[in-house]
Amino acid sequence: MNRRLITSALPYVNNIPHLGNLIQMLSADVFARFCRSRGYQTMYVCGTDEYGTATETKALEEKKTPRELCDYYFKQHDEIYKWFDIAFDKFGRTSNEQCTQITQEIFLDLDKNGFIKEHPNKQLFCNHCNMFLADRFVRGICPKCGYEDARGDQCEKCGSLLDPVELKEPRCSTCSNTPEVRETKHLYIDLPAISPNLDKWMIKASKDGRWSENAIKITKAWIRDGLNERAITRDLKWGIPVPKPGYEDKVFYVWFDAPIGYISITKQLADELKASGKPSFDYKTWWLPEESSAPSAKEPVDLFQFIGKDNIPFHTVVFPCSLIGSGHNWTKLYHMSSTEYLNYEDGKFSKSKGVGVFGSDAKDSGIKADAWRFYIFYNRPEKQDCQFTWKEFREKYNSELIGNLGNLVNRTLLFVTKYYEGKIPDAPADEEMWGKVRDLEAKITENLEWANLKDAFHQI
Ligand code: 2FM
Ligand code: ZN
Repeated sequence: MNRRLITSALPYVNNIPHLGNLIQMLSADVFARFCRSRGYQTMYVCGTDEYGTATETKALEEKKTPRELCDYYFKQHDEIYKWFDIAFDKFGRTSNEQCTQITQEIFLDLDKNGFIKEHPNKQLFCNHCNMFLADRFVRGICPKCGYEDARGDQCEKCGSLLDPVELKEPRCSTCSNTPEVRETKHLYIDLPAISPNLDKWMIKASKDGRWSENAIKITKAWIRDGLNERAITRDLKWGIPVPKPGYEDKVFYVWFDAPIGYISITKQLADELKASGKPSFDYKTWWLPEESSAPSAKEPVDLFQFIGKDNIPFHTVVFPCSLIGSGHNWTKLYHMSSTEYLNYEDGKFSKSKGVGVFGSDAKDSGIKADAWRFYIFYNRPEKQDCQFTWKEFREKYNSELIGNLGNLVNRTLLFVTKYYEGKIPDAPADEEMWGKVRDLEAKITENLEWANLKDAFHQI
């Protein structure tokens, strides 16, 4: 049996997660529990995604240092996931030393192999704050839809990805001053040069690992439209230092290091076990088995990743390119389980607007975690967008969980108690009935093997 390495998208640390974020962790949790119960050797890792402008701007707002902000919210995340009873093997953080070390190693390998390019570029600079305004440090009018409060990296209204210099009437998010355009330089990963190898890998991997339809469609579109070089450095302080002369004042772009977090969090677990004198393991047995001498490294690993559809290209194109370009045979995506959106009542969940159900609300609601878990799976946006509504939550909880399943269990137990003194008597099995049960069990198992969690759940 192949080993199973499972990840769910690393949530940004700068906020309380809402149900839309929780779906990924819950899905991976159910899948990991299934794998463990089937006897697969299983490793499920997740953790907070801590770097980037989202953290720096929030820290300024809350008058904390980025480190203080991350420590504070990491604890909130950790408590919420514990309350939801998510059985991670490790819930770690990307601001750990392991992430710095492995990110820098992968970067140096890419550079050595000629896949890192340097280009001058123009960026907005705020004279008042004395800094370049990366991504969310600048706001202005969206050049695509005219929305007045678009962020430098993306317009929240129309969803277009932006370059801060494209914004009309840009202003510094911190002090509202108008920034000026200045020349700077950045490092880019040469995706076009890695593309032929990516293409080969993707064709096989998507078939072998039965990627979800949306993942195949989006990835093919990216490759078909031609990959561009992507900037992987930023003018920020809060991030992983770039180990290259001339880049002392820059850090890596958060999307370069975040997926490497999956690897580094596995190493974080191994290092912590070792430091506390407990039996540990070599993280490379999971992520770089060819370079590990541990006996378990001989058993193949299948990597299952659970994400929302907006994260697909980062997991099927950008991250695999970093791994392929490094020249080492890292474990790469096997099965992609990418969900559609979960909407809230008539609109969207929104952290910035405080719309939706947040982990802390669920925790304080007086409704048990299992009831939430039930409804989230009943309503998992597996192949199409779904809607969370309080009305349906109540209805499904009452009719399906209590009325149907709860009642069946309750009546069966009462019957056995009343007529057979609480012990199921020996009797010939009803073969026809058991045949049906076994057929269903086989179908459910097949669905679970491929993380079709919603279908499996409805069959159960
Ligand atoms: O969209 C998000 O919430 C990102 N923080 C997901 C990162 S996934 C991984 F690559 F780390
Ligand atoms: Zn400013």
